[in-house]
Amino acid sequence: MKILLIGSGGREHAIAWRLAQSKLVDEIICVPGNGGTAKEEKCRNINPADCEYTETLTGNDAIVQVAAFEQVDFAVVGPEDPLCSGIADQLWSCGIPVVGPKQAGAMLEGSKDTAKDFMQKYGVACAASKTFTDAASATAYIKEHGAPVVVKADGLAAGKGVVVAATVEQALGAVNDFMNDKKLGNAGTKLVIEDYLQGVEISILAAVSVTPKLAAQNQACILPFVPARDHKRLNDGAKGPNTGGMGAVAPLSDVTPEQMAMFKKDILEPTLKGLAAENYDYRGFIFFGLMLCKDSVKLLEYNVRLGDPETQAVLPLMDFDFAELCGAIIDKDESGALKAFEPKMQWKKGFQCAPVAVSGGYPGSYKKGFEISLKGNGNLGKNTKVFIAGAVEQNRKSANLVTSGGRVLAVSAFGATFEEAFKNAYDGMKDVDFNGMFYRKDIGLPGAAESGEL
Ligand code: AMP
Ligand code: GLY
Repeated sequence: MKILLIGSGGREHAIAWRLAQSKLVDEIICVPGNGGTAKEEKCRNINPADCEYTETLTGNDAIVQVAAFEQVDFAVVGPEDPLCSGIADQLWSCGIPVVGPKQAGAMLEGSKDTAKDFMQKYGVACAASKTFTDAASATAYIKEHGAPVVVKADGLAAGKGVVVAATVEQALGAVNDFMNDKKLGNAGTKLVIEDYLQGVEISILAAVSVTPKLAAQNQACILPFVPARDHKRLNDGAKGPNTGGMGAVAPLSDVTPEQMAMFKKDILEPTLKGLAAENYDYRGFIFFGLMLCKDSVKLLEYNVRLGDPETQAVLPLMDFDFAELCGAIIDKDESGALKAFEPKMQWKKGFQCAPVAVSGGYPGSYKKGFEISLKGNGNLGKNTKVFIAGAVEQNRKSANLVTSGGRVLAVSAFGATFEEAFKNAYDGMKDVDFNGMFYRKDIGLPGAAESGEL
């Protein structure tokens, strides 16, 4: 089997590594991939810009051309951007099955307003909110509502579109930045203003297979993975500026069975009903960004893909064939393959801790091009694996990677206990070095989680 994998981050390296372990898989074409996938077994990086046969095509069109030329069996889409611009629709219409929702379903991430409408329509537990298309009404609402309050730009904003405002002034500042100064371009022309929720955040990633036909046969299905936690702040103790994610841990011993039951009843089940009722063709992954509140679990956001860096902690815990799961999600004859997969979805008994190493200066400006010293090509023993994010091959002849982004890599380690996983991960970090390297020392420890405190 030949698979096309779209994306270039740490998440995609983890997906490629996991797919490569499947006996079903012969080759993974990574478009464009990164320095990690370049060296991974069974993987081949292709940059569409370097292909003669893509001619003048760019963006999704060029990727679809690569998929067709390479005659892949199916595609897996890592990031949200291509999904929100309809790459799944394009691939399916060329006869190429895709793990990743079609555009209509992808708007659950592409538009906060669409997502909140959906949550409210189908009774998904979430914060109360209102949507505004002009600054004067948003301002009046915030003055009346008071603080704390959360201001969200409607469109995709690479993590920069949400302001949790402790004061009315901060909230009004966000309205001004997004609507008047257009700091996020078109993403800020609509705003969702939401009640502030106090609690502890977790992420639940899940496999989804919903089509009108599956829904009609009562075979539409969402299978959740083990709960995970990202650590978004730069410094230990959840302090400092927001980042793309400084590390992840899974599963979580602080999530109770009662909270998992609330998540299923108040969030997962109404989401499944809604996806079916909207007639979406949603075959892919969904990411529930959740707040564990005092007596409830609330949905903060949907992402229509796997999380980064959660994927780097969750995929190594899978005790099943990831390529087979992808096949069940696609469910070519729409016969209920994902539902039937449920008994196979078993997890390793233990924990995975995955701290991220970033470039000095990140999330502000930072230098690139530093050589990475990495023992064992990133395979640091049986329990520890380095997933590359922002690093590329120095050149084709050299075995070395050089930094090319803010988040450079994650060291993901397994342990029978959390303490063992933590120790293995940070021992592994000692085998990695590059100029300016920085990482948090508390991934997964109590007190490291975002608590939404202002
Ligand atoms: P979102 O992209 O909607 O998940 O928002 C990004 C981050 O903002 C979340 O991960 C939370 O840390 C925070 N956030 C979003 N909505 C709320 C809310 N209603 N109350 C408190 N914090 C929130
Ligand atoms: N870890 C958060 C995200 O993937 O959006």
